[in-house]
Amino acid sequence: MIGVFDSGFGGLVVLREFLQLLPGYDYLYLGDNARIPYGTRSDRVVLRFTEQAVDYLFRQGCRLIILACHTASAKALRTIQQVYLPVHYHENRVLGVVIPTVEEALAKSRSKRIGVIGTEGTVASQSFELELKKLDPTVEVIQQACPLLVPLIEAGEQDWEGTAMILRRYLAPLKAARVDTLILGCTHYSILKDQIRGIMGNGRELICSGQVTAAKLVDYLRRHPEMEGRLSRGGQRRYLTTDLTPRFQQLAGLFMGQPVNSEVVEL
Ligand code: DGL
Repeated sequence: MIGVFDSGFGGLVVLREFLQLLPGYDYLYLGDNARIPYGTRSDRVVLRFTEQAVDYLFRQGCRLIILACHTASAKALRTIQQVYLPVHYHENRVLGVVIPTVEEALAKSRSKRIGVIGTEGTVASQSFELELKKLDPTVEVIQQACPLLVPLIEAGEQDWEGTAMILRRYLAPLKAARVDTLILGCTHYSILKDQIRGIMGNGRELICSGQVTAAKLVDYLRRHPEMEGRLSRGGQRRYLTTDLTPRFQQLAGLFMGQPVNSEVVEL
């Protein structure tokens, strides 16, 4: 079984892409809706919450987990891979969205001026910038935290003119810096993709981690038959959340593109 973890339901946009490209596997989705947002929390707390989620998913039978949450990928993944897994689950794997997204951005960018938008936590962690520069030290990275976007999308205000105004303000420095590629470094931002494209203009590449991570997962499983062989293939999908509010079904539908029946769990 493949586990997909996010701080809430935004990661459903990533799962949706996995289901398109790799429909045969069993998937277990976990959204930590009781504790969202992660984007404003400290490294220590994001690591603790993410470890609890990973542990829960492994105990349910997942062998491979994708951290669809950019904040968790940026702040917790490395420690989980280097410290937690070798001690607790050395045969299992946890992957994130930062590396696949960075590789794709570098492949697409011609000018090597790349923009990154994300939560405060993701931007402060510098993860995207560090990984981009590791692969290409000459790249210029312009980052912009967009703390108001997650609450606006969660409030169902993606089509509100105020959201467009805020988006224009956040994107202005990136336009001014003439980035030719923009990483949408947060699960929620793909909901605003068309507006972002409208503001940034057609000549710019927008990199959405969902599509990119799904394509890289296909490649990963091809290169790692020992892991691929351990993944169950019954076409099963289960959706777990740490809190189920009336708003949940509506937002889950927005991110997933279809209704989702979720079970409430305690981590
Ligand atoms: N899932 C988070 C991310 O991709 C956004 C929501 C949050 O702040 O928890 O960064």
